[in-house]
Amino acid sequence: MESVVSIQDLRKSFGAVEILKGIDLEVRTGQAVALIGASGSGKSTCLRCINRLEEPSSGRITVAGVEVTGAGVDLNRVRQNIGMVFQGIHLYPHLTALDNVALALRKVKRMARAEAHDLARKCLAQVGLSDRVNHHPAQLSGGQAQRVGIARALALRPQVMLFDEPTSALDPELVGEVLAVMRGMKDAGMTMIVVTHEMQFAREVADEVVFLDQGTVIDRGPPQDILERPRHKRIQDFLARLH
Ligand SMILES: Nc1ncnc2c1ncn2[C@@H]1O[C@H](COP(=O)(O)OP(=O)(O)OP(=O)(O)O)[C@@H](O)[C@H]1O
Ligand SMILES: [Mg+2]
Repeated sequence: MESVVSIQDLRKSFGAVEILKGIDLEVRTGQAVALIGASGSGKSTCLRCINRLEEPSSGRITVAGVEVTGAGVDLNRVRQNIGMVFQGIHLYPHLTALDNVALALRKVKRMARAEAHDLARKCLAQVGLSDRVNHHPAQLSGGQAQRVGIARALALRPQVMLFDEPTSALDPELVGEVLAVMRGMKDAGMTMIVVTHEMQFAREVADEVVFLDQGTVIDRGPPQDILERPRHKRIQDFLARLH
């Protein structure tokens, strides 16, 4: 199967400090990769390089066949292929859930109002929010707001979804509903890269777990290998600290 995301020897420095020290990653159609590692290991930086929210220092990244790191690349077009969901996602407070999703479609896809509302409704249904379309963000729980953010990203029909700790700002009782939506997306064939501390989710949903340590991938493989029988001391310690 072809790679949706391909990363070769990605390096990123901030000033004199090299934060990503040569990352390689292939994510094929419909695969979910869980990116895990201690705080400061470079997970967010790596994700942000994929849509060039962060400028890679060197290396090559392609998404859906387009070289993101290529000279003269049309970043707006590239970013249309990449959905991004992070903790505490920003919704427009003065717009309803429906309008938050529809606005993205009208702006990015230049969709007419009726068509945008139609699709927005479908995407909100997909994340289980059919009964909240006319609510404003302040009237939504954290988990519901996060699901609106996911619906907004989904509506743009990206080739890959990037998640950066989408549940880490939520009260524990709201985490499950967001993970359930993400699981549904994976089952529907979405390609995704997920930075998460939810090891059970990684175990059950990820095809591959990639463990980052100080900007280097120190191990990767099926969840049962990396999470159940970790070979590396650093991964053993990391997992022990989570429990
Ligand atoms: N804009 C920046 N300028 C300087 N240093 C940065 C910048 N962004 C990130 N860093 C540094 O890069 C390292 C990796 O940060 P990053 O946010 O990618 O880690 P992370 O693995 O996502 O951590 P966490 O689990 O805490 O979110 C950290 O040491 C951080 O201080
Ligand atoms: Mg981070």
